[in-house]
Amino acid sequence: MTILVTGGAGFIGSNFVLDWLAGVDTRDERVVNLDALTYAGNLANLASLAGDSRHVFVKGDIGDRALLDQLLATHRPRAVLHFAAESHVDRSIHGPGEFMRTNVQGTFNLLEAVRAHWMSLPGDERSSFRFHHVSTDEVYGSLAPDAPAFTEAHPYEPNSPYSASKAASDHLVRAWHHTYGLPVTTSNCSNNYGPYHFPEKLIPLMIVNALADKSLPIYGDGMQVRDWLYVSDHCSAIRAVLARGRPGQVYNVGGWNEKPNREIVHTICALLDELRPHTQGTYARLITHVTDRPGHDRRYAIDARKIERELGWRPAETFESGIRKTVRWYLDHADWVANVQSGGYRDWVQQQYGASTA
Ligand code: NAD
Ligand code: DAU
Repeated sequence: MTILVTGGAGFIGSNFVLDWLAGVDTRDERVVNLDALTYAGNLANLASLAGDSRHVFVKGDIGDRALLDQLLATHRPRAVLHFAAESHVDRSIHGPGEFMRTNVQGTFNLLEAVRAHWMSLPGDERSSFRFHHVSTDEVYGSLAPDAPAFTEAHPYEPNSPYSASKAASDHLVRAWHHTYGLPVTTSNCSNNYGPYHFPEKLIPLMIVNALADKSLPIYGDGMQVRDWLYVSDHCSAIRAVLARGRPGQVYNVGGWNEKPNREIVHTICALLDELRPHTQGTYARLITHVTDRPGHDRRYAIDARKIERELGWRPAETFESGIRKTVRWYLDHADWVANVQSGGYRDWVQQQYGASTA
């Protein structure tokens, strides 16, 4: 059997592919990995799969309908897991167009291709087929300090171009189930962190900047709260939804780890002080407060009781264990960091693929 993953060269997608092909229950099932290799896609994340016939990488865009039709007809996946997206809020503020193109138009295009494929399947394959949409808690907007965490029934109140584009994609997925009966599931997850996280996001940026003696820029007062989940726990949640989730249902995924940004940055500095002490003293000396992000959401928090109750999923990592693993991973993978920072991984993509699709 085969699954089709979109965006499997990005942070969460590559962790998912690696976990899938290492999993006792899943490792015999091939992964077709469709990724456009934007700045966020990095094949070095998947270097350990070189020569592994269970992983079929295809460089291509979810906006390319002919390519989607060809992949679905050739590989006949039993499920499509949709990770591909523009994912960085700050980039969406500076240039929202690409977010509309991939997250909204691309998801629409993918849904239409998958719907045609699904309709063509014989009865038993058709009834077991799944489309899983990977989404975010940001679609629910911002919480007051004492408000209860987001449940699946929380109204959609997206505040950034990124979250608005993800909200639009969630609505499309919902409608394709309601109108056409496409067997979809959606997960709305909180902030992930862990290996292969691109150093534009808070946690990896703070680690790589600290190691390079650069400033650690905290937006505004740094008291914005996020609910952090170690990436392999997100991957196990998606596997649980794929295996046991009910079509048409939404599952919120989170780690019960609400923390203000300042605390995150101080924790990273303390871990680096312990693991890679600096001759000039604590890394916290590099912290600076900079202009806040426009429209910055103050607090996110996920109520993950539905997925716990219905699917028996629980995170394996605490924040303390996950952040320690993460800091160690960046210390042990200086070559990966250097390659990302130099843009070397992009040169390789150009050399391997040029401007063409595979
Ligand atoms: P990422 O930016 O690291 O990776 C996105 C991947 O999608 C990249 O490999 C990129 O090349 C690919 N891609 C982009 N546009 C494409 C297109 N048009 N066609 C094909 N591939 C394309 O993102 P991530 O952090 O791994 O997030 C993955 C998914 O999870 C996204 O849908 C995001 O909204 C969602 N999510 C992320 C988080 C988080 O904390 N990072 C939390 C909840 C949900
Ligand atoms: O909540 C899930 C979302 O988490 C995902 O849907 C997004 O794809 C993912 O990027 C993430 O969004 P955030 O905006 O929360 O993540 P980011 O790492 O960009 O920022 C985390 C917090 O840290 C946020 O409050 C902004 C702040 N921040 C970020 C950066 C990059 C800083 O203070 N300084 C920084 O330099």
